[in-house]
Amino acid sequence: MSEGRKQSQALFERAARVLPRGVSSNFRYWGDGATPMVARAEGGYIWDVDGSRYYDYRLGFGPVILGHALPAVDEHVREASRDGVVYAFTTEREVRVAEKIVEMCPGVDMVRFANSGSEATMHALRVARAYTGRDKIIKFEGHYHGMYDYVLWSTASSTMEIETMGNRRSPVPVSSSSGIPRALHDLVITLPFNDVEILEDTLKRTWFDVAAIIMEPMMGNVGSIEAEPEFLQAVRRLCDEYGVVFIMDEVKTGFRVAQGGAQELLGVLPDLATYAKSIGNGYPIAAFGGKREIMDIIGDGVAHGGTYCANNVGIAAAEKTLEILSGTDALEQVAERGRQLQKGISDILEAHSIPFVFTGHPSMFGVHFAEQCPREYRDYLASDYQTYNAILEELVVRGAMPDPDSREPWFFCAAHTEADIDDTLNLFEQSVDAVLANQH
Ligand SMILES: Cc1ncc(COP(=O)(O)O)c(C=O)c1O
Repeated sequence: MSEGRKQSQALFERAARVLPRGVSSNFRYWGDGATPMVARAEGGYIWDVDGSRYYDYRLGFGPVILGHALPAVDEHVREASRDGVVYAFTTEREVRVAEKIVEMCPGVDMVRFANSGSEATMHALRVARAYTGRDKIIKFEGHYHGMYDYVLWSTASSTMEIETMGNRRSPVPVSSSSGIPRALHDLVITLPFNDVEILEDTLKRTWFDVAAIIMEPMMGNVGSIEAEPEFLQAVRRLCDEYGVVFIMDEVKTGFRVAQGGAQELLGVLPDLATYAKSIGNGYPIAAFGGKREIMDIIGDGVAHGGTYCANNVGIAAAEKTLEILSGTDALEQVAERGRQLQKGISDILEAHSIPFVFTGHPSMFGVHFAEQCPREYRDYLASDYQTYNAILEELVVRGAMPDPDSREPWFFCAAHTEADIDDTLNLFEQSVDAVLANQH
């Protein structure tokens, strides 16, 4: 990688005059003197405007499952767009992609398309409310479901210090932003993840108000902390018992941790699931789907729509991406690169006597400096994430770029090579040494 960030800084300053904080999403702002400005990306690499190349383990926060700028996907999109982009009608390609999703995802009988993960979860929640005739939702602390007011409660980007979160048995929903109507506080019940007893007690008291339980099967926004098998089964059982719609938010796990996403991997089927990210290798396309009985109420007094839903560009990207994912061992390769990195990280941290645990799936895993596996967001806050984040920051300076905020998992794509991972491990070791040297 080349020295300095002269061009990046100049572009950042220009950007900050027309884009608040110089970015188009708050998560991309790393500080006035440190926000990366990107020129391009290809395969498993990303280049900033100063010409520095990084191994990219953010992958746009997960979508780039096959590698950046994959010619097979890009050419398919270009070819499709010659026929136009939006028609405000259904196309045969759209039907083919819907059929493919139904074939790949075990719990999905029908789908509707959307353009982002936020849209997909927003629509799924409306459908759940319409289906049950109830208004409230249960979500779990630290889980992220998108950028709209109903779900921006107790996410990892809320100012969620342990003092603000209330008691574990009766958490206080913490708003993630100013500008969220206070009235919505009464529509969300936030609970600690992986606690069957608290969930069961809560439902006993509130079930008649609760439309849906929405969850990430792996906390793609808090170091990939996984739903434990007993917890997932309990959610399924309690949803059946109390007539609550179980929504699995597979925006990060879908078409990544397995062809059929987390529901296939973990063997528990939700009522509705939401997809985005890996479905189109980075092109903006999303979907939500699930049981026919529930999905079939859409259009019968239940709203869903959008000018760009199932636009030809997103659909073509999904068509080619899903063809590759279902017809090759790409996902196995992706997981193998993750396992290779995990093995190397284990060796380095053990050699330095740093206690750590991995969470999640090898294709999107978290590392936590703790003796025990974190089971919920409160455990993450109790881990030594400060030291681990410092290592990640050193790593970025050296040219490998997982997100330096350890709540974001390491993401892998089919374009990462064994040599990329080996090199990243060398840089990781140097970063650990640098941080430890600073601490002494
Ligand atoms: C689990 C989950 N759900 C929903 C979303 C929102 O997706 P989008 O950013 O496409 O709106 C995200 C984004 O990171 C996510 O990780």
